[in-house]
Amino acid sequence: MHAAAFAVAGLDWAYIPLLVASEPKMRIQEAVYGLRALGFQGANVTVPHKQTVIPFLDRFNTVVEAIGAVNTISVEADGTLTGDNTDAPGFIRDLQEHHVELEGQNALVLGAGGSARAVVYGLAEAGCYSITILNRTRSKADALVKTIEAFFPSCPVATGVLPREIRSYAEKADLIVNTTSLGMIPHRESTPWDESVALRPDQVVYDLVYNPRQTRFLRFAQEAGAKTISGLGMLIWQGALSFEIWTAQPAPTGAMAEAVEKAMSDHG
Ligand code: ATR
Repeated sequence: MHAAAFAVAGLDWAYIPLLVASEPKMRIQEAVYGLRALGFQGANVTVPHKQTVIPFLDRFNTVVEAIGAVNTISVEADGTLTGDNTDAPGFIRDLQEHHVELEGQNALVLGAGGSARAVVYGLAEAGCYSITILNRTRSKADALVKTIEAFFPSCPVATGVLPREIRSYAEKADLIVNTTSLGMIPHRESTPWDESVALRPDQVVYDLVYNPRQTRFLRFAQEAGAKTISGLGMLIWQGALSFEIWTAQPAPTGAMAEAVEKAMSDHG
């Protein structure tokens, strides 16, 4: 995706995977400072380092503070290391591209892990009327509520246990978002949803899982006539927003989407 974007933008840049060990702990610091020493323009950071890189950055914004995770680092000309998070705006941008109205809506979020933090922040910032977070481990959902309440005191956030409490919250939900890994290859037959609870055509169902493109949850929602969206768009948009941070140029999103589609079909 990034190689395609650099080519279209005429930048002689490369995007390469670099594996950083979690142990010993100093490796993470060395890797972050190494970006500056080696003349990198920036980096994406993924699991399991999204939180642990934060202490080594010189600057980060409110989104990072609220979500507690960085997915994009940029190295400024003077060597300043800046952390950002494009997951939350990438998710919201994808919903906008799909013409989903968020203001005044009731959202139901399944899961309370790292991606849920970005999703819930994005939904609260976009003006959702209420957000309910259901998670297998309720304490994690409660911890996420504390963060969101601190940043968005006027957005009511409730929590419950997944999947037991789906039935209580499904009816009033306008938008349902799966942030758990249920349904992802190789567990394509698993689903975060309680299939004895019906969905409706006026509901929007978003599954962050993009492999497979149509998860069991999305298939169930589509059969009920709901509007369904796969997480591929969020993947592309978070990448596009990272590209814009590093290059200060508009991202060639068409070329990026095409590259992602091609990689998905090449890898089944
Ligand atoms: P990510 O960064 O992708 O969000 P994560 O932080 O590991 O990954 O979070 C995974 C989420 O999927 C969590 O909400 C997790 O629930 P727990 O907090 O209870 O662990 C959820 N999840 C993963 N496997 C699950 C399963 N078999 N049943 C229910 N929830 C599951």
